[in-house]
Parts: sequence; structure tokens; C-alpha cells
Amino acid sequence: METVLSGIRPTGNLHLGNYYGALRNFVKMQHEYRCFFFVADWHSLTTYPTPEDLHGNVKQVLAEYLAAGIDPEAATLYVQSDVPEIPQLYLLLNMIAYKGELERTTTFKEKIRTQPDNVNAGLLTYPVLMATDIIIHKANKVPVGKDQEQNLEMTRKFAKRFNTMYNVDCFPLPEPFNFGQDLIKIPGLDGSGKMGKTEHNGIFLIDEPDVIRKKVMRAVTDAGPTEMNQAMPEPIRNIFTLLEVVSLKDTVDHFKEEYANCKIRYGELKKQLAEDIIKVIAPIREKIKEIHADEAYLTRVTRMGAEKARESASKTLKEVRAIIGHKEL
Ligand code: TRP
Repeated sequence: METVLSGIRPTGNLHLGNYYGALRNFVKMQHEYRCFFFVADWHSLTTYPTPEDLHGNVKQVLAEYLAAGIDPEAATLYVQSDVPEIPQLYLLLNMIAYKGELERTTTFKEKIRTQPDNVNAGLLTYPVLMATDIIIHKANKVPVGKDQEQNLEMTRKFAKRFNTMYNVDCFPLPEPFNFGQDLIKIPGLDGSGKMGKTEHNGIFLIDEPDVIRKKVMRAVTDAGPTEMNQAMPEPIRNIFTLLEVVSLKDTVDHFKEEYANCKIRYGELKKQLAEDIIKVIAPIREKIKEIHADEAYLTRVTRMGAEKARESASKTLKEVRAIIGHKEL
């Protein structure tokens, strides 16, 4: 059985894009692959969250993963910082990662540009920690967005370098997981691009119905079609993409026809979209709240996750130690 692994940084709440782009696929995969899903709390330290924020966000992301349908019995769901084997392998992997190649990664160069006063070493070695996350469980497939593909490429580079250096076949070279047709890009509400955590164009899984209505009613549109069967500009296409994801086919067809006939009223379209988004999100939001309040359950889940993750990680670490020459005394 192939191993699938993915991590999410505990910064901000999960949105509709995370749900359709990732979580829903994780839920499907958890019975078909050996799955590891984790909260990347060490990764989030590069931006210095307060202890309260860090703790709160880890808990929130866990509750959101669970509410979306991740089954902690089927998949291994854990918090990165519960696995001390990770920093051990990270140290070893840092020895074969070169400063030059780390400096050349796009995300690092981006950080130098956007936060020149805080270019810490954790940022430089971020790809090494991410590679560690992946290879410590010998993952084969990693579902990640476009922005993480370079990090995955670095992971393959480090894994291969280790294998070659010690002439072993220890680490598989992980590939991006491609959902093919199942992958839907969820656009934002601001007219262009995809939904993001920080772009203020998103609908969060914890948003109350009224908040959703307000956000959708404010979504960017235009003055409306003036010719029959006119092509849709991006903001309108985006609204229809969302509608296709959350609404019934009849509803979508109805509004498409109205658009084609130049009869469409964006107010009505948005009202319908808001109600259909609410239908998807309401049960998830209720579940998030319920799980969030159940400390005992969350403790049980994280303990079990840590145990399973450590079992897998320590096996790899033991193997690596032997390869390197740290013999058991
Ligand atoms: N870097 C990823 C992000 O910012 C999060 C992450 C950390 C991750 N470790 C990972 C994703 C391992 C996949 C696999 O989104």
C-alpha cells in the first residue's frame, strides 16, 4: 500500500478552498492508502505566533480536520511537535542540504523580499524540515498545491542524495499527488485568483450563515451581459464555478440560461449561492464546534496520532542511524 502524507500549517482557519481542494480528497484517500495527516506547528514558528495563538490554532485545525471527516482510526492524524524523531532526522538531513540551493528557492527569496528584517535560519531550512516530514514516513505521494511543488522537488533531491551518498535504497522519491479530474480549483470572491487564507476573499468553514451571506453578496461582479450568449469574464465565471461546486445541476443550468439570455440578476444568483454554501458548511461548522469543545476527545486523538506517527518515524530513524554509522551500543 502506498503512503500518502500531507501537512498543514496552523495559521488561520480552513476555508472552502481547503475543503474542496484538499480535505475532501483526504477523506476519500484515507481508506485507500496508508495516510499521514499532520498539523505543521514547527513550521509555523518562523513567524513567531504567541503561545496562546499557537496552541489555539493547532486545536482549531485538528477540530477542522476531524469535522471534515478525517477518521483518526483510519489515517494517522498527528501534531508535528509530538514527534521528536522529526528534529533528529532534520539535523541529519541538514548536513546534506547546501546553503546555495536553499537560498535559491522561490519561497525563501520571496521572504527576503517581503520580510527583510526577519530572515531567520528556520526560513532558510524550511524545505529541509518539510523534506523530513515526508521522508520520515517514506511517503510516496504528497498532495500539495502548486506553491509547494518546489519544496517537493527539494525533498526528492535530498532523498536521492542520501540514497546515493550511502549507496542505499532507503527513501522513496515522493511525487505530488494528482487528483486528476477530482481536483477543483476554488476561486475567491474578489474577482480573480483562487481562494486563500490571507487574501480576504474566502469563506471559512467556521463562518456563520450571516457572515457567508454578507461575503457572497459583496463578491465582485460586473454590469451584466449585454449580448446573448456572451462569454463570461473571470469574476462571473468564478461565481459560477462556486455554484457548480455547491449547488444542484438544475440551479446551475437555470442561472446559466439566464446569463445567456441577458436576464440574469446577480442579486438572485448570489442569494442562491450563499444559501447553497451555507448548506454545505453548516453541518461542518456545527461539528467543528462540538469537537473543539470536547477536550478529552482531542487529547485521545492526538495521543493516538503521536503514538502511530512515532512508531513509523522511529523505524525510519533507526534505519538511518545504522546507515550513517551510529551503531547501537
Ligand atoms: N509547507 C506546507 C505549506 O505551507 C506545509 C507542510 C509542512 C507540508 N510539511 C509538509 C505539506 C509536508 C506537505 C508535506 O502548505
